[in-house]
Amino acid sequence: MTTIDSAKANLSGRSFLTLKDFSEKEIHYLIELAGYLKSMKKAGIPHRYLSGQNIALLFEKPSTRTRCAFTVACSDLGAHAEYLGKHDIQLGKKESVRDTAAVLGRMFDGIEFRGFHHETVEELAAHAGVPVWNGLTDQYHPTQVLADFLTIKEQIGKLKGVKLVFTGDGRNNVANSLLIGGAKIGMDIRICTPKELFPSKEIITYATEEAQQSGGNIMVTEKIADAVPGADVIYTDVWVSMGEEEKFAERIAQLLPYQVNRKMVETSGNDHLVFLHCLPAFHDLHTQVGKDVHQKFGITEMEVTDEVFQSKHSFVFDQAENRLHTIKALMAATNGKD
Ligand code: CP
Ligand code: NVA
Repeated sequence: MTTIDSAKANLSGRSFLTLKDFSEKEIHYLIELAGYLKSMKKAGIPHRYLSGQNIALLFEKPSTRTRCAFTVACSDLGAHAEYLGKHDIQLGKKESVRDTAAVLGRMFDGIEFRGFHHETVEELAAHAGVPVWNGLTDQYHPTQVLADFLTIKEQIGKLKGVKLVFTGDGRNNVANSLLIGGAKIGMDIRICTPKELFPSKEIITYATEEAQQSGGNIMVTEKIADAVPGADVIYTDVWVSMGEEEKFAERIAQLLPYQVNRKMVETSGNDHLVFLHCLPAFHDLHTQVGKDVHQKFGITEMEVTDEVFQSKHSFVFDQAENRLHTIKALMAATNGKD
């Protein structure tokens, strides 16, 4: 059995709720498999590993990339995707999450969930009897980080030792997942954010222990001058995540100094710096929310300037495309049917 085969055997039938669920070896396996599936898709070679299967896609929150990646991945893998939005099923309203999980598990071969409480996806996974994949909760966004890792590997050629600075809301779902995943695979992860937005002690402790095992490094700091020089990757996300829309005034005041702009790129001192963002991004006034924020607070860009977003450093659309290939790898590898 090759390393890849044995990692696959270990993943079969397993859920993916946070990066804590998979080992360093398993994460590497998924990234490698995603690259392989990407090359098959580009070459037009069929890869219908989930032929005849049915996959439920549960969404309490809106989504462009995650929904489309799961849907297209299902289609490419030969499975049928059934989208179940927040008004479509009773989830937690007239039927408990536990009973819903039991019912869906009788009909579907896998379940994706995007929503608010992380406990909901845990409850689904505990009672569905089929793999459950977290498509984003308030706390974690693990499938995003698989795409981020594939993008970094494509651009920099490796993951171990890569210095990634996450700047912005340092305790959001993306930051939490990058911190855990990056620590596990031996990256040098720096969360650069005001003290009030530091990740939880529990996550910092977990990541620190993982980094000790993997040879990685963790830094959580409010000082840009400590985090950014020498960065290989600068990553940011929206300052106000879905579900906390009342926080714009507070976050703009806290996070304007952490905006990814030309000065921050220059501070990295790296001409080959890679800029990443999970998207959607507020980098101009071509969105309703961007226009509202401009009217109320007078700013035209938030977490990243349009200059950086459009620059040679930006690989955000490769990153978005890689959601498809990594989600496909995840579904194929955890599929319990082979
Ligand atoms: N990055 C991401 O999860 O995008 P969506 O919210 O569009 O799914
Ligand atoms: N932190 C963001 C990620 C969106 C993909 C949010 O939760 O809204």
